[in-house]
Amino acid sequence: MDTLECIMTRRSIRRFTEESIPEEVLEKLLEAVRWAPSWANTQAVEIIILKDKNAREKIVEFLSPNNPSAKGVANAPIVAIICAKIGLAGYKDNKAVTNKGDWYMFDAGIASQNLCLAAHALGLGSVHVGYIDHQKLDEYLDLPSGVKSVEVIPIGYPAKIGNAPPRRQINEFVHREKYGNC
Ligand SMILES: Cc1cc2nc3c(=O)[nH]c(=O)nc-3n(C[C@H](O)[C@H](O)[C@H](O)COP(=O)(O)O)c2cc1C
Repeated sequence: MDTLECIMTRRSIRRFTEESIPEEVLEKLLEAVRWAPSWANTQAVEIIILKDKNAREKIVEFLSPNNPSAKGVANAPIVAIICAKIGLAGYKDNKAVTNKGDWYMFDAGIASQNLCLAAHALGLGSVHVGYIDHQKLDEYLDLPSGVKSVEVIPIGYPAKIGNAPPRRQINEFVHREKYGNC
């Protein structure tokens, strides 16, 4: 599948089969994370891979109540937790250099989407899960003070593929030459 097809046909997958993911396939997913671009190549993203069923089920406790991905997180063969070191992306000499502050969320987002697109290209499904109690999750994971969790991504072979939620038309978000000129 070409890149554009991969981008357009990737869906959020929240139900997985019990088929496990071979280690060499996991390695490919991790390569996709490794090659994500980052602010000044600061590579602040860290990733925790959970396979243990008890650990995966525990993570569900930190999702928002009624999160539609709760079952997927509990049942996926692999759950990736995307984290990042703070104070690196967007910083020079320990000082934030833009009015956006720390760019770790941005870099984690790019790495996360690389992971989800690579998963799709390899016949796997995944979903970004960001509606989490991050403070409790960080405590449970025993993260060092300079590292924050960003999102949880269950990954597995899809058991159910939903329809694409609608997107805005291009002319609804593209501005030609000046904001407001569509
Ligand atoms: C940053 C981010 C956080 C998200 N958090 C959740 C979540 O907590 N639970 C969930 O079920 N889906 C979550 N999603 C998935 C979105 O609901 C989904 O991407 C959107 O509805 C579009 O559907 P599609 O991915 O199939 O195109 C999240 C997506 C993103 C990008």
